[in-house]
Amino acid sequence: MTITMSELDLTDPATHLRPDLSEFWAEQREGQPVAWHPPSAGRPGFWVVSTHALATEVYRDNVRFTSEQGNVMETLLRGGDSAGGRMLAVTDGPRHRAVRRELIKSFSPANLASLRIRVRAAMRELVANATTTDSCDFAVDVAPHIPLTAICDLLDIPEADRPQLFIDASTSLASQEQYADELEATLARNGLLLYFSRLSKRRAAGPPRDDLIGTLIEMTRGPLALADDELVFNCYSLLLGGDETTRLALVGTVKALAEHPEIWARLRAGDLDQDVFVEELLRWTTPALHVGRVAVTDTELGGTAIRAGDVVTVWNNAANFDDAEFHEPHRLNPDRAPNRHLSFAYGPHFCLGAALARIELVALLDALAELVSDITVLGEPKYIYSNFLAGMHSLPVRFTPLG
Ligand code: HEM
Repeated sequence: MTITMSELDLTDPATHLRPDLSEFWAEQREGQPVAWHPPSAGRPGFWVVSTHALATEVYRDNVRFTSEQGNVMETLLRGGDSAGGRMLAVTDGPRHRAVRRELIKSFSPANLASLRIRVRAAMRELVANATTTDSCDFAVDVAPHIPLTAICDLLDIPEADRPQLFIDASTSLASQEQYADELEATLARNGLLLYFSRLSKRRAAGPPRDDLIGTLIEMTRGPLALADDELVFNCYSLLLGGDETTRLALVGTVKALAEHPEIWARLRAGDLDQDVFVEELLRWTTPALHVGRVAVTDTELGGTAIRAGDVVTVWNNAANFDDAEFHEPHRLNPDRAPNRHLSFAYGPHFCLGAALARIELVALLDALAELVSDITVLGEPKYIYSNFLAGMHSLPVRFTPLG
């Protein structure tokens, strides 16, 4: 049965929990790869891009399609992002390139080498602990601890500050639960901004250090003259940008392994190229559902006229399952190569933290293969309530220890 755009509201988080959504996306890709989503609940209409080729075209071109007014549907439809031009993800042009060039140095293999060792050890310990109990909630007991700790290490956040930061980070994202308190979430986000403002002032008064905050402080003094609020917005976005996305990929990985015993057996036998498999897991889990842009001039996309100022949303969960790009897209294929998934987007805004996320996923695969003989899902997973991110906030499992 055909599901048309007018029967669905992509701004409603409940839509993304529908079991028949992959049929909807297949029909969109086939019939209307650039479709107009009508206005809903007081919000304006917007374009919906669903094929891999057209998604890539939008991502590639930040001259025609800008991020400066925001890169998430919710903010774009509410009139724009207040951090536009002052935070990497929502900046374009030469300033974006210059700030990115500096920040990406912290994510080079050499810089991540010692973090990789710490992530591996922390993951091993968490998984080992999980094997000592009859059941654990992987999404609560294991997955949240790794991404935040890793980014706090990169930012060199003092240990004593981390517990409060972890609380504020998770409250900030709580709006992704159905009955969450939006006021609490706003207060927590403000708490994080205030924290980074104070920390950076304290750090600026001390000796220079070469962690990520040290790099940002250097940028306030160098030719880029990064403003204080730019520094704070970027710390905030690094902390939150890499937290829940990676967590959702980790949780989705455990469920995928539990549901594919033949792949699990190959992983345990050391018969998989883990780097190749991780790319497929990123495609399979697609934690960021969409990314948004605004058309800068009147233009054309896939034969459809787009007007200057129109909001254009690119749906990664549609593009990542496009059979024009991926053979048998609805099969988890651990050997899929090449794998041009768009989970980290593409082009100028390609995810800055991709290398770190990959390290965390490989650490999980290693820990499971080394310590666990069986993964059993014990109860119904619970899915987050969001029109932006996808995945589970609860996954009860039993990890049977090896040996
Ligand atoms: C599986 C985990 C992750 C996923 C799925 C993910 C997804 C994405 C996506 C789709 C974008 C592109 C946004 C756009 O084009 O507007 C992006 C950008 C970005 N990500 Fe990630 N991300 C992940 C992990 C991380 C981590 C671990 C960090 C930081 C430590 C991070 C920091 C960033 C930053 C700073 C940008 C902006 C880059 C730019 O605009 O140049 N992400 N991410």
